[in-house]
Amino acid sequence: MPLIWSKTLEITLGNLRKNLQSIKRLLPEEVGILPVIKNDAYGHGLLEVAKVLAEEKVWGFGLSEPDEGLILRKAGFIHPIILLSGFEKDWLPEMVHLRLTPVVTSLDSFFILKEFCLRKGISVEFHLKAETGMNRFGLPFEDLQILIEELRENSYLKLVGLMTHLAASEDPDSSYTQAQLENFKKFLKVLQTEGFAPKYIHFCNSGGIIFLPEKGNLVRPGIALYGGYPSFRARAFLKLYPVMSLKSRIVEIKRLKPGEGAGYGPTFIAKRETRLGIVPVGYGDGYPRALSNRGFAYCLGTRVPIVGTISMKALYIDLTGLAHAKVGDEVILLGGPNNEVPADELAQLAGTICYELFCQLGRAISRTYKD
Ligand SMILES: Cc1ncc(COP(=O)(O)O)c(C=O)c1O
Repeated sequence: MPLIWSKTLEITLGNLRKNLQSIKRLLPEEVGILPVIKNDAYGHGLLEVAKVLAEEKVWGFGLSEPDEGLILRKAGFIHPIILLSGFEKDWLPEMVHLRLTPVVTSLDSFFILKEFCLRKGISVEFHLKAETGMNRFGLPFEDLQILIEELRENSYLKLVGLMTHLAASEDPDSSYTQAQLENFKKFLKVLQTEGFAPKYIHFCNSGGIIFLPEKGNLVRPGIALYGGYPSFRARAFLKLYPVMSLKSRIVEIKRLKPGEGAGYGPTFIAKRETRLGIVPVGYGDGYPRALSNRGFAYCLGTRVPIVGTISMKALYIDLTGLAHAKVGDEVILLGGPNNEVPADELAQLAGTICYELFCQLGRAISRTYKD
Protein backbone atom coordinates (compact mmCIF):
# COMPACT_ATOMS: atom_id res chain seq x y z
CA MET A 1 0.00 0.00 0.00
CA PRO A 2 1.69 3.25 -1.04
CA LEU A 3 2.09 5.59 1.88
CA ILE A 4 1.14 8.58 -0.22
CA TRP A 5 -2.55 7.79 0.23
CA SER A 6 -2.30 7.42 3.97
CA LYS A 7 -4.93 9.56 5.61
CA THR A 8 -7.75 8.46 7.85
CA LEU A 9 -10.69 10.42 9.11
CA GLU A 10 -11.60 8.31 12.08
CA ILE A 11 -14.96 8.72 13.79
CA THR A 12 -15.01 7.30 17.30
CA LEU A 13 -18.66 6.67 18.03
CA GLY A 14 -17.91 5.65 21.60
CA ASN A 15 -16.86 9.24 22.24
CA LEU A 16 -20.17 10.47 20.85
CA ARG A 17 -21.88 8.36 23.54
CA LYS A 18 -19.53 9.75 26.19
CA ASN A 19 -20.23 13.33 25.11
CA LEU A 20 -23.96 12.70 25.28
CA GLN A 21 -23.50 11.40 28.81
CA SER A 22 -21.47 14.50 29.75
CA ILE A 23 -24.25 16.68 28.37
CA LYS A 24 -26.94 14.71 30.21
CA ARG A 25 -25.12 15.23 33.50
CA LEU A 26 -25.79 18.97 33.14
CA LEU A 27 -29.53 18.46 32.68
CA PRO A 28 -32.49 17.54 34.85
CA GLU A 29 -33.61 14.04 33.95
CA GLU A 30 -36.93 15.10 32.44
CA VAL A 31 -35.31 17.31 29.78
CA GLY A 32 -35.48 15.71 26.32
CA ILE A 33 -32.52 15.77 23.92
CA LEU A 34 -33.01 16.99 20.39
CA PRO A 35 -29.52 16.57 18.91
CA VAL A 36 -28.66 18.74 15.95
CA ILE A 37 -27.38 16.45 13.22
CA LYS A 38 -27.77 18.72 10.21
CA ASN A 39 -25.11 18.90 7.51
CA ASP A 40 -24.25 15.21 7.72
CA ALA A 41 -24.04 15.46 11.52
CA TYR A 42 -21.52 18.30 11.31
CA GLY A 43 -19.44 16.17 8.92
CA HIS A 44 -19.48 13.04 11.09
CA GLY A 45 -22.00 10.98 9.08
CA LEU A 46 -25.75 11.39 9.43
CA LEU A 47 -26.84 7.77 9.72
CA GLU A 48 -23.96 6.52 11.84
CA VAL A 49 -24.44 9.37 14.31
CA ALA A 50 -28.24 9.06 14.36
CA LYS A 51 -27.99 5.34 15.05
CA VAL A 52 -25.83 5.87 18.13
CA LEU A 53 -28.01 8.70 19.40
CA ALA A 54 -31.15 6.63 18.90
CA GLU A 55 -29.58 3.82 20.93
CA GLU A 56 -28.99 6.41 23.65
CA LYS A 57 -32.69 7.26 23.58
CA VAL A 58 -32.71 10.84 22.39
CA TRP A 59 -36.11 12.49 21.98
CA GLY A 60 -35.75 13.39 18.30
CA PHE A 61 -33.46 14.92 15.70
CA GLY A 62 -32.86 18.49 14.53
CA LEU A 63 -32.10 19.09 10.85
CA SER A 64 -32.27 22.00 8.47
CA GLU A 65 -33.24 20.41 5.15
CA PRO A 66 -35.75 17.72 4.18
CA ASP A 67 -33.23 15.63 2.17
CA GLU A 68 -31.60 14.51 5.37
CA GLY A 69 -35.02 13.79 6.86
CA LEU A 70 -35.68 11.51 3.91
CA ILE A 71 -32.41 9.66 4.56
CA LEU A 72 -33.35 9.16 8.22
CA ARG A 73 -36.88 7.99 7.44
CA LYS A 74 -35.67 5.61 4.72
CA ALA A 75 -33.28 4.14 7.27
CA GLY A 76 -36.24 3.50 9.57
CA PHE A 77 -35.92 6.25 12.21
CA ILE A 78 -39.36 7.01 13.61
CA HIS A 79 -38.34 9.84 15.96
CA PRO A 80 -39.70 13.37 15.73
CA ILE A 81 -37.57 15.26 13.21
CA ILE A 82 -37.70 19.04 13.34
CA LEU A 83 -36.48 21.29 10.53
CA LEU A 84 -35.04 23.95 12.80
CA SER A 85 -34.50 26.79 10.34
CA GLY A 86 -37.93 26.92 8.73
CA PHE A 87 -39.14 25.57 5.40
CA GLU A 88 -39.95 26.49 1.84
CA LYS A 89 -43.36 26.14 0.25
CA ASP A 90 -42.10 23.43 -2.12
CA TRP A 91 -40.87 21.31 0.76
CA LEU A 92 -44.25 20.89 2.43
CA PRO A 93 -45.62 17.87 0.52
CA GLU A 94 -42.47 15.88 1.25
CA MET A 95 -42.30 17.14 4.83
CA VAL A 96 -45.84 16.05 5.57
CA HIS A 97 -45.29 12.72 3.84
CA LEU A 98 -42.14 12.11 5.90
CA ARG A 99 -43.62 13.56 9.11
CA LEU A 100 -40.92 16.24 9.38
CA THR A 101 -42.09 18.88 11.84
CA PRO A 102 -42.12 22.39 10.41
CA VAL A 103 -40.87 25.40 12.30
CA VAL A 104 -42.78 28.60 11.60
CA THR A 105 -40.34 31.51 11.45
CA SER A 106 -42.53 34.36 10.17
CA LEU A 107 -46.13 35.22 9.37
CA ASP A 108 -45.34 34.45 5.74
CA SER A 109 -44.25 30.94 6.58
CA PHE A 110 -47.34 30.50 8.77
CA PHE A 111 -49.65 31.48 5.89
CA ILE A 112 -47.83 29.13 3.52
CA LEU A 113 -48.44 26.32 5.99
CA LYS A 114 -52.06 27.35 6.48
CA GLU A 115 -52.76 27.46 2.76
CA PHE A 116 -51.15 24.04 2.29
CA CYS A 117 -53.18 22.47 5.13
CA LEU A 118 -56.41 23.98 3.82
CA ARG A 119 -55.74 22.74 0.30
CA LYS A 120 -54.90 19.23 1.49
CA GLY A 121 -57.53 19.15 4.24
CA ILE A 122 -54.98 18.12 6.85
CA SER A 123 -53.90 19.16 10.32
CA VAL A 124 -50.25 19.86 11.13
CA GLU A 125 -48.29 20.27 14.35
CA PHE A 126 -45.58 22.91 14.25
CA HIS A 127 -43.03 24.69 16.41
CA LEU A 128 -42.77 28.47 16.45
CA LYS A 129 -39.34 30.09 16.33
CA ALA A 130 -39.38 33.37 18.20
CA GLU A 131 -37.23 36.29 17.07
CA THR A 132 -35.44 37.28 20.26
CA GLY A 133 -32.22 38.84 19.02
CA MET A 134 -30.51 36.54 16.53
CA ASN A 135 -32.34 38.32 13.71
CA ARG A 136 -32.05 35.36 11.40
CA PHE A 137 -35.08 33.06 11.31
CA GLY A 138 -37.81 33.96 13.79
CA LEU A 139 -41.24 35.57 14.20
CA PRO A 140 -41.04 39.16 15.47
CA PHE A 141 -42.91 39.78 18.72
CA GLU A 142 -45.10 42.40 16.98
CA ASP A 143 -46.56 39.62 14.82
CA LEU A 144 -47.42 37.28 17.65
CA GLN A 145 -50.96 38.60 18.18
CA ILE A 146 -51.88 38.04 14.52
CA LEU A 147 -50.57 34.49 14.76
CA ILE A 148 -52.62 33.88 17.91
CA GLU A 149 -55.79 35.09 16.20
CA GLU A 150 -55.05 32.77 13.28
CA LEU A 151 -54.51 29.85 15.64
CA ARG A 152 -57.84 30.57 17.31
CA GLU A 153 -59.65 30.45 13.99
CA ASN A 154 -57.74 27.55 12.44
CA SER A 155 -57.52 24.74 14.94
CA TYR A 156 -56.02 22.35 12.38
CA LEU A 157 -52.74 24.25 12.86
CA LYS A 158 -51.39 23.08 16.18
CA LEU A 159 -48.66 24.94 17.98
CA VAL A 160 -46.76 22.30 19.95
CA GLY A 161 -43.38 23.95 20.51
CA LEU A 162 -41.82 27.35 21.14
CA MET A 163 -38.15 27.81 20.41
CA THR A 164 -35.52 30.43 19.85
CA HIS A 165 -31.84 30.39 18.96
CA LEU A 166 -29.22 32.10 21.08
CA ALA A 167 -26.62 34.27 19.38
CA ALA A 168 -23.95 34.38 22.10
CA SER A 169 -24.59 31.48 24.47
CA GLU A 170 -20.93 30.44 24.38
CA ASP A 171 -20.10 33.55 26.44
CA PRO A 172 -21.47 33.15 29.98
CA ASP A 173 -21.10 36.89 30.66
CA SER A 174 -23.10 37.99 27.65
CA SER A 175 -25.94 40.34 28.50
CA TYR A 176 -27.22 39.59 24.99
CA THR A 177 -28.24 36.10 26.08
CA GLN A 178 -30.13 37.46 29.09
CA ALA A 179 -31.96 39.92 26.85
CA GLN A 180 -32.85 37.10 24.45
CA LEU A 181 -34.22 34.99 27.30
CA GLU A 182 -36.32 37.93 28.53
CA ASN A 183 -37.72 38.35 25.03
CA PHE A 184 -38.41 34.64 24.82
CA LYS A 185 -40.33 34.72 28.09
CA LYS A 186 -42.54 37.46 26.70
CA PHE A 187 -43.56 35.17 23.83
CA LEU A 188 -44.24 32.35 26.23
CA LYS A 189 -46.27 34.49 28.61
CA VAL A 190 -48.50 35.87 25.87
CA LEU A 191 -49.07 32.39 24.40
CA GLN A 192 -49.90 30.96 27.83
CA THR A 193 -52.24 33.83 28.66
CA GLU A 194 -54.04 33.37 25.37
CA GLY A 195 -54.47 29.64 25.97
CA PHE A 196 -51.83 28.37 23.53
CA ALA A 197 -49.21 27.11 25.98
CA PRO A 198 -46.84 24.99 23.82
CA LYS A 199 -45.82 21.58 25.09
CA TYR A 200 -42.15 21.89 24.11
CA ILE A 201 -39.96 24.80 25.11
CA HIS A 202 -36.44 24.89 23.71
CA PHE A 203 -33.70 27.46 23.45
CA CYS A 204 -30.46 25.75 24.58
CA ASN A 205 -27.75 24.94 22.09
CA SER A 206 -24.47 23.56 23.50
CA GLY A 207 -23.50 26.93 25.01
CA GLY A 208 -26.92 27.31 26.60
CA ILE A 209 -26.81 23.79 28.06
CA ILE A 210 -23.42 24.48 29.59
CA PHE A 211 -23.90 27.99 30.90
CA LEU A 212 -27.59 28.70 31.48
CA PRO A 213 -29.41 27.75 34.66
CA GLU A 214 -32.72 27.42 32.78
CA LYS A 215 -32.93 24.71 30.14
CA GLY A 216 -36.56 24.48 28.94
CA ASN A 217 -37.86 20.92 28.48
CA LEU A 218 -35.97 20.09 25.28
CA VAL A 219 -32.36 21.00 24.47
CA ARG A 220 -30.59 21.11 21.10
CA PRO A 221 -26.91 20.18 21.48
CA GLY A 222 -24.78 20.21 18.37
CA ILE A 223 -21.08 20.87 18.65
CA ALA A 224 -20.66 19.43 22.17
CA LEU A 225 -21.90 16.04 20.96
CA TYR A 226 -19.03 15.97 18.50
CA GLY A 227 -16.51 16.90 21.19
CA GLY A 228 -16.20 20.58 20.29
CA TYR A 229 -16.40 23.15 23.07
CA PRO A 230 -18.51 26.16 22.10
CA SER A 231 -15.82 28.33 23.75
CA PHE A 232 -12.58 27.81 25.68
CA ARG A 233 -14.39 28.76 28.90
CA ALA A 234 -16.72 25.80 28.47
CA ARG A 235 -13.79 23.42 29.00
CA ALA A 236 -14.06 23.87 32.78
CA PHE A 237 -17.72 22.77 32.88
CA LEU A 238 -17.75 19.38 31.16
CA LYS A 239 -15.39 16.83 29.75
CA LEU A 240 -15.77 16.18 26.04
CA TYR A 241 -14.00 13.64 23.87
CA PRO A 242 -13.03 14.09 20.22
CA VAL A 243 -15.27 12.16 17.87
CA MET A 244 -13.40 13.10 14.68
CA SER A 245 -9.68 12.41 14.40
CA LEU A 246 -7.53 13.01 11.36
CA LYS A 247 -4.46 10.81 11.12
CA SER A 248 -1.83 10.49 8.46
CA ARG A 249 1.82 9.48 8.11
CA ILE A 250 5.14 11.00 7.18
CA VAL A 251 5.65 10.09 3.51
CA GLU A 252 8.92 11.88 2.87
CA ILE A 253 11.63 13.66 4.87
CA LYS A 254 13.53 16.64 3.48
CA ARG A 255 16.75 18.04 4.88
CA LEU A 256 17.19 21.80 4.45
CA LYS A 257 20.32 23.88 4.90
CA PRO A 258 20.04 27.34 6.47
CA GLY A 259 18.61 29.75 3.90
CA GLU A 260 16.79 27.06 1.88
CA GLY A 261 13.03 27.37 1.42
CA ALA A 262 10.24 24.81 1.26
CA GLY A 263 6.88 24.85 -0.46
CA TYR A 264 5.05 27.66 -2.26
CA GLY A 265 6.27 31.19 -1.74
CA PRO A 266 8.41 29.90 -0.19
CA THR A 267 6.92 31.13 3.07
CA PHE A 268 9.26 28.93 5.06
CA ILE A 269 13.01 29.55 4.98
CA ALA A 270 15.21 27.37 7.18
CA LYS A 271 17.12 29.32 9.80
CA ARG A 272 19.25 26.28 10.74
CA GLU A 273 19.75 22.70 9.59
CA THR A 274 16.12 21.55 9.36
CA ARG A 275 14.28 18.27 8.85
CA LEU A 276 10.83 18.57 7.39
CA GLY A 277 8.31 15.76 7.25
CA ILE A 278 5.85 15.79 4.37
CA VAL A 279 2.32 14.70 5.27
CA PRO A 280 -0.11 13.99 2.39
CA VAL A 281 -2.98 16.17 3.61
CA GLY A 282 -3.83 19.62 2.31
CA TYR A 283 -6.61 22.09 1.75
CA GLY A 284 -8.08 19.80 -0.90
CA ASP A 285 -8.83 17.46 1.98
CA GLY A 286 -10.58 20.20 3.95
CA TYR A 287 -7.54 20.98 6.09
CA PRO A 288 -7.46 24.80 6.35
CA ARG A 289 -4.75 26.52 4.33
CA ALA A 290 -4.94 29.27 6.96
CA LEU A 291 -2.92 26.94 9.22
CA SER A 292 0.16 27.48 7.01
CA ASN A 293 3.03 28.40 9.37
CA ARG A 294 0.52 28.48 12.26
CA GLY A 295 -0.92 25.04 12.93
CA PHE A 296 0.48 22.09 14.79
CA ALA A 297 0.28 18.33 14.63
CA TYR A 298 1.29 15.51 16.98
CA CYS A 299 4.03 13.03 16.19
CA LEU A 300 5.91 10.57 18.42
CA GLY A 301 4.55 12.01 21.64
CA THR A 302 5.10 15.70 20.89
CA ARG A 303 3.49 18.64 19.23
CA VAL A 304 5.25 19.61 16.04
CA PRO A 305 4.69 22.88 14.18
CA ILE A 306 3.24 23.04 10.70
CA VAL A 307 5.57 25.10 8.56
CA GLY A 308 5.40 26.48 5.05
CA THR A 309 2.40 26.99 2.85
CA ILE A 310 -0.13 24.18 2.99
CA SER A 311 -0.79 22.92 -0.53
CA MET A 312 -3.76 21.05 -1.96
CA LYS A 313 -2.56 17.61 -0.98
CA ALA A 314 0.44 18.09 1.31
CA LEU A 315 1.77 19.96 4.28
CA TYR A 316 5.09 20.11 6.12
CA ILE A 317 5.78 19.42 9.78
CA ASP A 318 9.04 20.52 11.36
CA LEU A 319 10.80 17.42 12.68
CA THR A 320 14.07 19.11 13.55
CA GLY A 321 13.57 18.41 17.25
CA LEU A 322 12.55 14.79 16.56
CA ALA A 323 15.76 13.14 15.41
CA HIS A 324 14.25 9.63 15.42
CA ALA A 325 11.18 10.52 13.26
CA LYS A 326 11.11 8.51 10.05
CA VAL A 327 8.99 7.88 6.96
CA GLY A 328 5.86 5.94 7.93
CA ASP A 329 5.47 7.42 11.42
CA GLU A 330 1.94 8.39 12.37
CA VAL A 331 0.95 12.04 12.50
CA ILE A 332 -2.22 13.18 14.27
CA LEU A 333 -3.62 16.27 12.57
CA LEU A 334 -6.84 16.54 14.57
CA GLY A 335 -8.21 14.92 17.72
CA GLY A 336 -6.41 11.74 18.69
CA PRO A 337 -6.91 9.20 21.50
CA ASN A 338 -6.19 11.82 24.18
CA ASN A 339 -7.25 14.84 22.16
CA GLU A 340 -3.64 15.61 21.33
CA VAL A 341 -4.77 18.12 18.69
CA PRO A 342 -7.89 19.80 20.07
CA ALA A 343 -10.25 21.03 17.38
CA ASP A 344 -11.01 24.31 19.14
CA GLU A 345 -7.30 25.23 19.41
CA LEU A 346 -6.62 24.35 15.81
CA ALA A 347 -9.72 26.21 14.63
CA GLN A 348 -8.71 29.32 16.53
CA LEU A 349 -5.26 29.26 14.91
CA ALA A 350 -6.99 29.00 11.53
CA GLY A 351 -9.26 31.94 12.34
CA THR A 352 -12.35 29.75 12.28
CA ILE A 353 -14.47 27.57 14.57
CA CYS A 354 -14.39 23.82 15.06
CA TYR A 355 -17.84 23.57 13.43
CA GLU A 356 -16.33 24.62 10.12
CA LEU A 357 -13.30 22.40 10.54
CA PHE A 358 -15.48 19.31 11.11
CA CYS A 359 -17.81 20.10 8.20
CA GLN A 360 -14.94 20.67 5.76
CA LEU A 361 -12.97 17.56 6.68
CA GLY A 362 -16.10 15.41 6.80
CA ARG A 363 -17.06 16.50 3.30
CA ALA A 364 -13.62 15.96 1.79
CA ILE A 365 -12.31 12.71 3.29
CA SER A 366 -14.14 9.41 3.52
CA ARG A 367 -14.65 8.33 7.09
CA THR A 368 -13.86 5.16 8.98
CA TYR A 369 -15.88 4.32 12.09
CA LYS A 370 -14.99 2.74 15.37
CA ASP A 371 -17.01 2.48 18.56
C1 LIG B 1 -31.53 26.23 15.79
C2 LIG B 1 -30.27 25.56 16.27
N1 LIG B 1 -30.28 24.96 17.46
C3 LIG B 1 -29.18 24.34 17.95
C4 LIG B 1 -27.99 24.32 17.22
C5 LIG B 1 -26.79 23.64 17.79
O1 LIG B 1 -25.82 24.58 18.17
P1 LIG B 1 -24.43 24.12 18.78
O2 LIG B 1 -23.76 23.34 17.73
O3 LIG B 1 -23.73 25.39 19.08
O4 LIG B 1 -24.74 23.30 19.99
C6 LIG B 1 -27.96 24.95 15.98
C7 LIG B 1 -26.72 24.96 15.21
O5 LIG B 1 -26.44 25.72 14.35
C8 LIG B 1 -29.12 25.58 15.50
O6 LIG B 1 -29.14 26.20 14.30
